[in-house]
Amino acid sequence: MAHSFPVPRTCPFAPPPEYERMREEAPLVRTSLPGGDVWLVTRHAEAQQVLSGSGISTSPATPGHPNAALRPTPPPSPEEAAAMAKFLAGHFIDLDPPAHTRFRRLLIPEFTVRRIKDLRPGIQALVDGLIDDMVARGSEAELVQAFGLALPSLVICRLLGVPYADREFFQARTREMLSSDGDFHTSAFAIRDYLDGLVTNAEKAPKDDLLGRLITGGRLTHDELVGVMFLLLVAGHETTANMIPLATLTLLRHPDQLAALRENPGRWPMAVDELLRYHSIVDWVAFDRVAAEDQEIGGRLVRKGEGIFVLGASANRDARAFERPDEFDVERGARHHVAFGYGVHQCLGQNLARAELEIALRTLFERLPGLRVTVADEELPAKYDGPIFGLTSMPVAW
Ligand code: HEM
Repeated sequence: MAHSFPVPRTCPFAPPPEYERMREEAPLVRTSLPGGDVWLVTRHAEAQQVLSGSGISTSPATPGHPNAALRPTPPPSPEEAAAMAKFLAGHFIDLDPPAHTRFRRLLIPEFTVRRIKDLRPGIQALVDGLIDDMVARGSEAELVQAFGLALPSLVICRLLGVPYADREFFQARTREMLSSDGDFHTSAFAIRDYLDGLVTNAEKAPKDDLLGRLITGGRLTHDELVGVMFLLLVAGHETTANMIPLATLTLLRHPDQLAALRENPGRWPMAVDELLRYHSIVDWVAFDRVAAEDQEIGGRLVRKGEGIFVLGASANRDARAFERPDEFDVERGARHHVAFGYGVHQCLGQNLARAELEIALRTLFERLPGLRVTVADEELPAKYDGPIFGLTSMPVAW
């Protein structure tokens, strides 16, 4: 049976209810999109198989890549093809090995557990500073702007050497890029042009920071450096920004579990993984793949050139991988979730994201013990149609 897709979320605490029906029907189900049929992967084991599969491509250049299937697209003009090639330079999330491996090898040392451990005091100081600012302004705040978006933007700006004063520019362009009615290419190229200037300046006098090390390493072209900066800037702020308010809300709705975390702060890392699993803010949109050869997945023959979307939010609610999957349980040990993906493209920034979430949430609840949301859950505006799920505002008081 063909299923309609994409399926919108209707609740901040759960994936679309249709996901459960699809998951119980089969590990792979079919959907018909205007540009062609696509497989949807619904279960955890098959999600891991596809995301780590060697006969699977993520590149939009591979024939049959499913993003084009959402709306039929004519073949690109030579100008469009050239613009796409420029956009893809350094955008290694869209590259297959071995092209992908070259970037990943250069960047892994910047995001190891040890490197992130060294960043923790700086992240703690930023979190404290943001809470100081909120408290100095009174006893109410809008948590998405004042804290959720501010923290990861500050952290990634500092890491990449992007001036934080320019945040409104790149935050707004990212929002346009990710909104369903936005013009992806215009917004993406505005950010790229901005970063091009920054890279050009850094090339004249490289510093001892992430960009400086990539420049002096001499392995990447100018356009590739711009692409890497683009990917890190966008992936580094928008994702974590959506998690912080949602995680805060979920913990406020589970006061017993929050109390247990306050008693035993050593449990925060485990709680963060459960929050990542439970919300799965990045769903199919990042998990666009195409079969590069015929293969069997979940008992189905998937043929070369057939598009695949992995439903990450469904895989993370699969009872075959998580007991009582719809329950939020900070004690469950959910680290095998696929909220950061799986396999060669598994989130490069995951250690950083975990550190930011842990420090942000722990400190917020420590310093503002009376924190509460001032409107009902139904009144909280959520990005139900956005490719990365989150709240657009969350008024709080303490
Ligand atoms: C809660 C926060 C985050 C979530 C849920 C998240 C989620 C993801 C997911 C699902 C993927 C895999 C996409 C795929 O399979 O194609 C991914 C890849 C990636 N993420 Fe994250 N991410 C987060 C934070 C970050 C941060 C803070 C950074 C930056 C520093 C970052 C940088 C990247 C990069 C560079 C990739 C591409 C990796 C590759 O293709 O090798 N992410 N992320």
